[in-house]
Amino acid sequence: MRAKPKIVLVVGARPNFMKASPLMKELQREPRAFDTVLIHTGQHYDHNLSQLFFEQLGMPQPDSYLGVGSGSHAHQTARIMVELEKELIQLDPDLVIVFGDVNSTLAASLVCAKLCVRLGHVEAGLRSFDNTMPEEINRIVTDRLSDYLFVTENAGLVNLRNEGIADHRVFFTGNIMIDSLVNHLKAAREVGVLGRYSLEPQGYAVLTMHRPSNVDDPDVLGRLMKCTAEISERIPVVFPCHPRTSKRLEQFGLLETCQRENFRILEPLGYLDFLKLQAEARMVLTDSGGIQEETTYLGIPCITIRSTTELLATVEEGTNTLCGSDPDKILAVVNDILEGNSRRGRIPDLWDGATAGRIVDVLRDKML
Ligand code: UD1
Repeated sequence: MRAKPKIVLVVGARPNFMKASPLMKELQREPRAFDTVLIHTGQHYDHNLSQLFFEQLGMPQPDSYLGVGSGSHAHQTARIMVELEKELIQLDPDLVIVFGDVNSTLAASLVCAKLCVRLGHVEAGLRSFDNTMPEEINRIVTDRLSDYLFVTENAGLVNLRNEGIADHRVFFTGNIMIDSLVNHLKAAREVGVLGRYSLEPQGYAVLTMHRPSNVDDPDVLGRLMKCTAEISERIPVVFPCHPRTSKRLEQFGLLETCQRENFRILEPLGYLDFLKLQAEARMVLTDSGGIQEETTYLGIPCITIRSTTELLATVEEGTNTLCGSDPDKILAVVNDILEGNSRRGRIPDLWDGATAGRIVDVLRDKML
């Protein structure tokens, strides 16, 4: 190994950026110890899903942008592999670090395994036990191929042990996404997003939906839109809408369902606006992973529009309730919340804003 280990961070999609940013900063605080390179695959390319996050998180621009864009899973994953392989052969890193469970994570893991480059996975061990989720496949393969597995919650430790992953590769370092939240909450509290949409603190619900299982089937999406439109009769609903979902709403002729006074569809929001929107909401309805975690940290009731979760701590300790795509269950929990019977919850262990430091401690120990 060279005197100064070269570490490449690979990101590609929106939920990667808030996980990579604190680690990038922590590594760059030690320029004499580590040489750090950032690669963006271009899986997400819209300004609101990518560049805006770099700006708001204060992240340096990527050293390299692969520009792969959208496509089927095979197409997207393969394109990332082809482009990333060229970069990594040229860079010859000592370690590559990947984040979460998106296709860019999977593609980078496969390339590293074939090039015999050591791999670190931040957010290892999470399992929904639902193999119809593309992310579940990405998680299983990435963990199997990783040399250092950085775990966010206790369930991750249990899952990895059950899968026979050796303990010496596994590190319980906590939830790095909460580092970004802690670092930016003060700035987020100052943004004017509530005024922009005439919302009162605690006086609205936030909705997000983008999972293929919820938005790609016209019946399921229709049922969910009808249900959330019903909720908007009781409390205003704001819906920052992922491009995948906007396209489906239009394609299935469902935009009319949500053309109501108290139901607003918005463009995808930046990190600070969305953090503020969550922090002041009465409740959040979502099928995102990260939002289940952020609402648990913030103590805001979360209704998850999925029947499984890989984020057990959000249900067992936090404020999360799984409702699937069943309108009756969703409406029953909404009712409870509006009647003041929401879950209180507590913040899980090591969701404390100091995870990046703990990961760098491990890297220092293993690599210097
Ligand atoms: C991806 C992740 C998902 C994550 C989500 C967060 C995978 C398998 N899925 O899903 O885990 O929760 O990101 O957003 O990696 N599109 C645009 N502009 C963009 C990017 C995408 O319009 O910048 C549209 C395209 O129509 C594209 C579709 O969204 O085909 C899906 O994009 P893709 O990256 O394949 O998956 P996401 O649904 O974003």
